[in-house]
Amino acid sequence: MSDERPPGEVGAKRGRGRFDALPPWIGLGTRLIHAGRRPELNAGAVVPPIYQTSTYHYPPPFSEAAAGGDVHLYTRTDNPTHEVAEELIRQAEGGEAARVFASGMGAISATILSFVRTGDTVVALEDLYGGSLQLFSDLLPRLGVKVRWVTAAEAQVPASALHAPARVVYLETPSNPLGRVHDLTAWSEAADTAGALLVVDNTFATPVNQNPLEFGADLVVHSGTKYLGGHSDLLAGAVVGAADLMDRIDVTTSYLGAVLDPFAAFLLARGMRTLALRVARQNENGRRVAEALSRHPRVLRVDYPGRASPREEALAVRQMRGRGGVVALTLEGGEAAATRFLKKLRLVHVASSLGGVESLASAPTATSHVHLAPEERARRGIAPGTVRLALGVEEPDDLIRDLSEALD
Ligand SMILES: Cc1ncc(COP(=O)(O)O)c(C=O)c1O
Repeated sequence: MSDERPPGEVGAKRGRGRFDALPPWIGLGTRLIHAGRRPELNAGAVVPPIYQTSTYHYPPPFSEAAAGGDVHLYTRTDNPTHEVAEELIRQAEGGEAARVFASGMGAISATILSFVRTGDTVVALEDLYGGSLQLFSDLLPRLGVKVRWVTAAEAQVPASALHAPARVVYLETPSNPLGRVHDLTAWSEAADTAGALLVVDNTFATPVNQNPLEFGADLVVHSGTKYLGGHSDLLAGAVVGAADLMDRIDVTTSYLGAVLDPFAAFLLARGMRTLALRVARQNENGRRVAEALSRHPRVLRVDYPGRASPREEALAVRQMRGRGGVVALTLEGGEAAATRFLKKLRLVHVASSLGGVESLASAPTATSHVHLAPEERARRGIAPGTVRLALGVEEPDDLIRDLSEALD
């Protein structure tokens, strides 16, 4: 490694802290504007600059420099621009420590690989983003890690789904693409009993709508590519949780190297300043579009957090402050109808991904869940006529008009 810090200190982050303290009474929207201030480090700049550097001056004696706690060494392990984005995410999720990564998958793989070894069991809900499904079904078994899959039906009773010891439990709520809501408190209790860490992908909810750590999750992961960045112009990932868990993740990150470029970290922090504003509009757009399209004769089913059952509605009320901007439609007429619909959209872009200011529509059968066999997709409720809408911050009436005209 070109990181030459003393043995035992690999991954132990330095140079953190010393952000200006904020009053404890401020709300998340205010916090996201003001968190991560360190004017004395940044020549007084109101906007923290981009530290586009791979390395830092690190003159001897090393022990004195390290003892000062404010020394950066090499950007694979620490960079001040990362720290600003990390501070924003840490405060938004209410965790002790946060780290950013080159992508959501970078965050998820570094997190999982930090805690498993050959012979361990990971329990994962089936209802996951396709990339995570592949990580668990392909990479982990190759390393001798057993993966126990939990169906959406079994996931309703975590205590019986998690009947044997496990190292990690992994879930998304709301899930991709159908927005199924899982009981965070019950999963956290079951994970504790099984001796497992509960890792929750909070990408769809965002920290504006839900904080899984509050409900007992040990670690929260994000695709920062989505709502956190918010403008479809970067790839990023993040993990938030206890400092001792983060120390282990730091070691894995220094091996895997899925490190965010400082410029992308700057864009991520800039995007996060407006997260609360954007998500408020996306929540409204999600609710309005789900309501309007559920009355459309060509729409067989609308999936949206809480709609699957009264139980999921009650869970959403308990653990979420808003439902997010993803709505899945299943159209009458299968794949042909979905293709016709996508071709007729005038405002909504046909593209995978979500969480940007512009609305996107995609067919999970061709994008996020393309690698699953049709019967596997069917079991998860993803039909040939399913289209996932990831609503942006446009005006709700304009979106409803574009979507309704394309359906007509
Ligand atoms: C819920 C969820 N988690 C993780 C990821 C992976 O994130 P990234 O594409 O930034 O690697 C995605 C990507 O679509 C996602 O939707």
